[in-house]
Amino acid sequence: MSRSAHPAGPRHADVLPEGHYSAPPADLNTLDGKVWAQTVTRNADGVLTVGGVDVVTLAEQHGTPAYILDEADFRGRARAWRTAFGNDADVFYAGKAFLSRAVVRWLHEEGLNLDVCSGGELATALSAGMPADRIAFHGNNKSTEEIRRAVESGVGRIVLDSFQEIVRVAHIAQSLGKRQRVQIRITVGVEAHTHEFIATAHEDQKFGIPLADGQAAEAVRRALQLDGLELIGIHSHIGSQIFDMSGFEVAAHRVVGLLKVIRDEHGVELPEIDLGGGLGIAYTSDDDPREPHEIAKALTEIVTRECEAARLSTPRISVEPGRAIVGPTAFTLYEVGTVKPLDGLRTYVSVDGGMSDNIRTALYDAEYSVALVSRASDAEPMLARVVGKHCESGDIVVKDAFLPSDLAPGDLIAVPATGAYCRSMASNYNHVLRPPVVVVHEGESRVVVRRETEEDLLRLDVG
Ligand code: LLP
Repeated sequence: MSRSAHPAGPRHADVLPEGHYSAPPADLNTLDGKVWAQTVTRNADGVLTVGGVDVVTLAEQHGTPAYILDEADFRGRARAWRTAFGNDADVFYAGKAFLSRAVVRWLHEEGLNLDVCSGGELATALSAGMPADRIAFHGNNKSTEEIRRAVESGVGRIVLDSFQEIVRVAHIAQSLGKRQRVQIRITVGVEAHTHEFIATAHEDQKFGIPLADGQAAEAVRRALQLDGLELIGIHSHIGSQIFDMSGFEVAAHRVVGLLKVIRDEHGVELPEIDLGGGLGIAYTSDDDPREPHEIAKALTEIVTRECEAARLSTPRISVEPGRAIVGPTAFTLYEVGTVKPLDGLRTYVSVDGGMSDNIRTALYDAEYSVALVSRASDAEPMLARVVGKHCESGDIVVKDAFLPSDLAPGDLIAVPATGAYCRSMASNYNHVLRPPVVVVHEGESRVVVRRETEEDLLRLDVG
């Protein structure tokens, strides 16, 4: 029988094709707390609620697709990181994961610092009142203009990424009559166990200055000679979505090794080390992330131990979590447009967004979960692939997941753990409009980043 002649498609778990998925869960209505924002639950009617607001109301008020962000969860996670590291360390939220003025205000209030890596992120941070001295400025190719603005506004640190940049920042600071606090980013040669595109500490890549062949030590030597710079520490970021702490252990060992070389050569003990971000979150029930207090304990112990062995006083530690704070706090709410069963394969569920609001599946082969959220269903599970509305077959949001087989156009489905690197990497591909970010808190919802409009698109098109 041809596929088109068999519209019922693969409804049953006993005719599953090969794929990267576990067996269907016993109950598709159960929401795994690991992957959903903290205040998420289902109400008596089976509708998902978050921050005390149900998703049917959210869809009516704000439309779909929309990123729905749980403020209490964001603040709770930010506070947990801050508390875990205590007063002897600094937590810099990595704004690249997701940045908006509301987020900046929450971070400020919860006592976190902020890592930015472009003029746009810096402008957002300053416009929302983050004190400049609590901002770190990153990037492997900061423009002269970006450096000048960062120095002028008084950012707490600039993380230097190349030999040219050491000189560039020193000159700009000097020309402004300032001495800029800086760190040097080094690559420690660690292979982080994550996707190649988001691993950053092996040597053959664009970030940082290699520790190998004494290059990092030479960078330190030059930075110490320049009047425009106050070298406060060494920076290492080994990658992203990492669960295994051993990479951090090796990185800390090698960074402390460099501090020792610096002490021996220059008689200077640099006061800070930054171990970057990169801690993984749960995208599916198979992921088991660590809690901030476990991470803080592990990192502090590693650095203290390494420093004792090198007879150095322990430097102040900073970390830069992005995903681990914002990732789990949001989900993307979509409306189902079409349901297309393909016999012997899977059912394609098309939603009103796609790779323009979540490029991670196409780019990193990322795995996500999904649930029917506008109602409960006792229908049998069907193997589904959630796809977008873009003109590309790689436009996949969730590759393999189980949804109830009575799923129909008009149902709302939600993809959890989309708080990090989804809105911040969203595009206008096919001139699809980028969705809003809606914050829910204590029974209220409000838009913090509005939906893009066709006027927004046409305003840029000045030809
Ligand atoms: N610090 C530095 C210097 C970084 O480059 C990054 C991320 C972070 C901190 C924060 O890492 P996190 O804690 O969020 O893992 N677009 C990719 C991730 C790219 C990460 C880039 N740098 C993704 O969607 O997985």
